[in-house]
Amino acid sequence: MSVNKFLWGSATAAYQCEGAWNEDGKGLNEWDVFNHESPLNIHNEDGDVASDFYHRYKEDIDLMADGNQNTYRFSISWARIIPQGSGAINPKGIEFYNKVINYCLEKGITPNVTLFHYDLPNEMAKIGGWENREVADAFHEYAKVCFKNFGDRVKIWSTINEPRYYAYCSYVVGNYPPNYKADFGRFWKVLYHLMLGSAKAIQSYKELGMDGIIGIVHDNGNVELDPDTKEKELVRLRADIFYSRMVLDTALLGKLPDKLNEVLKDNSVDAFFLHEEDFPVFQKGRADYVGLNVYNRQYVTDYSQGKTEVFHNNVGKGSASKEGIRIKNMFETSFDPNTRRNLWGREVYPKCMYDCLMEMKERYGNVLVYITENGHGQYETPDNNGYIKDPERIKICGEFIDYMLKAREEGVNVQGYYLWSTMDLYSWINGYEKKYGIVRVDFKNNNRRIPKESYYWYKDLIAAKRDI
Ligand code: BG6
Repeated sequence: MSVNKFLWGSATAAYQCEGAWNEDGKGLNEWDVFNHESPLNIHNEDGDVASDFYHRYKEDIDLMADGNQNTYRFSISWARIIPQGSGAINPKGIEFYNKVINYCLEKGITPNVTLFHYDLPNEMAKIGGWENREVADAFHEYAKVCFKNFGDRVKIWSTINEPRYYAYCSYVVGNYPPNYKADFGRFWKVLYHLMLGSAKAIQSYKELGMDGIIGIVHDNGNVELDPDTKEKELVRLRADIFYSRMVLDTALLGKLPDKLNEVLKDNSVDAFFLHEEDFPVFQKGRADYVGLNVYNRQYVTDYSQGKTEVFHNNVGKGSASKEGIRIKNMFETSFDPNTRRNLWGREVYPKCMYDCLMEMKERYGNVLVYITENGHGQYETPDNNGYIKDPERIKICGEFIDYMLKAREEGVNVQGYYLWSTMDLYSWINGYEKKYGIVRVDFKNNNRRIPKESYYWYKDLIAAKRDI
């Protein structure tokens, strides 16, 4: 397969935009149940209707095409295809994604399809979720169903969106279901099974001789040490494996990171879930490319004292809490007072785009990279015509893009960029108030679409840089 042009597009994920949570035979997923039932759904929001992409996909794809975008990254809802997670296939689910894929192609938009973006079928959650090795096998079977049904037209696949961040939120922060807090045993086991499921799917994709490329999407985890760090080598080793190498080494080199066992020991985790029989699967299931979701760096230093603590902010402007972690015997987040932060306490540090891309080249050579997400979340108020001016998003995303282009000029094999997000959608736990879209969705007014200032800015930027 060859995609010759630089890909400029935008991205969404099924649960965050589709809605139609119980239509046309879709099974329940873990987020449907969590958002309907859990008191930890602090903003009392859900994805029942979301951006109503299920019924409005044509309008959204038309806007992408009119905005000069030549690619669209979206995910498939596993429970829409296989309602129970394993077993019977839902023909209506296949039909829906056929319509989306075909309409993209009709409009000259290359689909980039993610198989799993957090929305685990509830029947899989009930048997232990990704803690259970059988879920990796069920994922593998589901992936093959997708390859068989859509692989003739989809030429870019991603297995799993952000295995590290997903495992982290679900088993360390505890804000995503199943809401375990600081449970590192579960975190590592789940991460391992996610990598295993991904490798199995990639291995099959290759053995089936599919025409296309397949990779994994990682949350940019480039580690930067606070210059005052004392045990530099040790802190880097631990944080690198934790944030980055567990996913990237396993996916790109086809083997678990060197010294993983030492780091697991430091993290007081028993490595019983690692099986030697899986090692050939990792070898054969190497990714053709990596998708990087770039929002921030991981700025760390020596663990000081006190107990393990997680800092997270899903409240936005109502909380002064910064994002970070302190892990006993491992490392802790360092807070750089000179770096901007958004209202959710996360660093806004566009240079990390350049740094992470250069690190990719240094570590993994000429590996093909797509920036599968980059964007800016903020509160927004429309003017009297419903129009949103979002200069802050334009400025920040513009800086990120400039750093990406600089790394490209310096030889990094980065061939695509996806703005998060195509339109306003559900932001996990943060609800609908935290907006990322370049198209406004008027949630109170029949989900009307109104392109924002950033939509037009992006359209012009693509026109200017189409042929890079
Ligand atoms: C990425 C996810 O981690 O960040 C997206 O892949 C998510 O699904 C995005 O929406 C922004 O994060 P949040 O929590 O602000 O919505």
